[in-house]
Amino acid sequence: MSLNQQIERWIIEQRVQCRHKDRPFVTLSYAQSWDGSITLHSGESLALSGDQSLMLTHQLRSIHDGILVGIGTVLSDNPRLNVRQCPGPDPQPIVLDANLRIPPDARLCHLSDKRCWVMTSSGGLSPEHTDLEIIRLPGDAGGRVCLHEAMLELKQRGIHSLMVEGGANVITGFLKQKLVDAMVLTVAPRLVGGYKAVADLEFGSKEELPQISPMFSGMLGDDLIMWGKLQYNITVPATDGNS
Ligand SMILES: NC(=O)c1ccc[n+]([C@@H]2O[C@H](COP(=O)([O-])OP(=O)(O)OC[C@H]3O[C@@H](n4cnc5c(N)ncnc54)[C@H](OP(=O)(O)O)[C@@H]3O)[C@@H](O)[C@H]2O)c1
Repeated sequence: MSLNQQIERWIIEQRVQCRHKDRPFVTLSYAQSWDGSITLHSGESLALSGDQSLMLTHQLRSIHDGILVGIGTVLSDNPRLNVRQCPGPDPQPIVLDANLRIPPDARLCHLSDKRCWVMTSSGGLSPEHTDLEIIRLPGDAGGRVCLHEAMLELKQRGIHSLMVEGGANVITGFLKQKLVDAMVLTVAPRLVGGYKAVADLEFGSKEELPQISPMFSGMLGDDLIMWGKLQYNITVPATDGNS
């Protein structure tokens, strides 16, 4: 069995075991450098994955009902969020965009077979283009889209599995809210010293820090692929302080 098949099979197994009533099963997947950067500067695109890892990303997209990114990623990368590198169905594209900043010429506004869902907490006028479906939701304390409400809405719309691809604000938001079930991380053999994937998770104690267990790894070309299950609130053994 290829590495891609192993990961796919593992995710499908996890999804079956881990059914949430109020949200989809969430896989967080992104590419970072050895130092944890996802790009050089926020707002700039940087291709980190090799061809084989890119193919894995597309395979993973095809086994999820929905794929979600933040508006920051739309503005910098102009992604299509579909499956092009392998056969398989396209997931439903979803963007978190509290202030409806999505530009009318974004590729996601012109998909041939799907209307992108834009989740917003803005009460303002909808963008003029009709190729989007605007979903209005309550905001959180910071004025962003409330992730719990967003997840409930997606579940009610038939999205039972969701792949979250970034960027850093979205990755941090999902981790902070303990909404990630599985992670597939591509680590490219580069040092970037740039914009990091994960910011302050604001957990009050070490015990609260999420752990990945079980965890698996393998190589795809020059990239290290790591995948595993996110565990929250499991007891961490005390260390002797000498290490
Ligand atoms: N290496 C990789 O795998 C990878 C993957 C994706 C992106 N990237 C890179 O990451 C960068 C973009 O990351 P980013 O951190 O600037 O932007 P982002 O995470 O893509 O989007 C963040 C924006 O989404 C909106 N948002 C709405 N509700 C939110 C919520 N509950 N939580 C978080 N965000 C919410 C906010 O803008 P509003 O308040 O205006 O709504 C927020 O500023 C780009 O440079 C891109 O190239 C890399």
